[in-house]
Amino acid sequence: MSGMFGETRTAPKHKSVEWYTPRWVFESLDLSFDLDPASPHDMPSQVPAWNKYTIFDDGLSKPWQGRVWLNPPYGPETGAWIRRFIKHGDGIALVFSRTDTSWCQEAMQSATATLFMAGRIDFIPGLENQHKKSRCGAGTVLFAMGEDCANALQRMRDRGVFYLTAQSDLDAAAHAQR
Ligand SMILES: C[S@@+](CC[C@H](N)C(=O)[O-])C[C@H]1O[C@@H](n2cnc3c(N)ncnc32)[C@H](O)[C@@H]1O
Repeated sequence: MSGMFGETRTAPKHKSVEWYTPRWVFESLDLSFDLDPASPHDMPSQVPAWNKYTIFDDGLSKPWQGRVWLNPPYGPETGAWIRRFIKHGDGIALVFSRTDTSWCQEAMQSATATLFMAGRIDFIPGLENQHKKSRCGAGTVLFAMGEDCANALQRMRDRGVFYLTAQSDLDAAAHAQR
């Protein structure tokens, strides 16, 4: 089934995943994180997270605690990272906007809030990509899980199309009536 829904249509495996989130994203969110489970191993990261896992730790197999920042390695494994993020339920994920894939469909249904970015982000090249221009092959979407993260994502709403999921609208309405 997963092939049918395009799991393998994300970036081909040979492409480098060493492209990093620019600092302005974190400044706009104005939020710090407990964990970045997919962090560079050979250069300092801009991600404001207390704990980081690199490829040598294999962040997908380790425990995740607290508020997570996730910009996962892109490729056939992206779905596993996003599903782990959804299950974890606390954090913000930034991924290519592949709305046809099952992992993106699941995230759109599960996120507390979603921001489809206008235009393309210039990602920071890792060491192996220093000679290349940002390989921005698609748009970007950010998913927020949990109220704090949804509020932070809302601070970036002028950067694209922002929406709260229907369920979080209902939760907010119920909260207001209490
Ligand atoms: C797209 S980059 C994002 C880096 C950083 N999280 C950010 O937002 O700037 C993905 C990173 O995940 C790392 N990575 C790849 N496989 C991993 C694994 N199994 N566990 C932890 N990190 C991994 C890569 O080396 C790369 O630095």
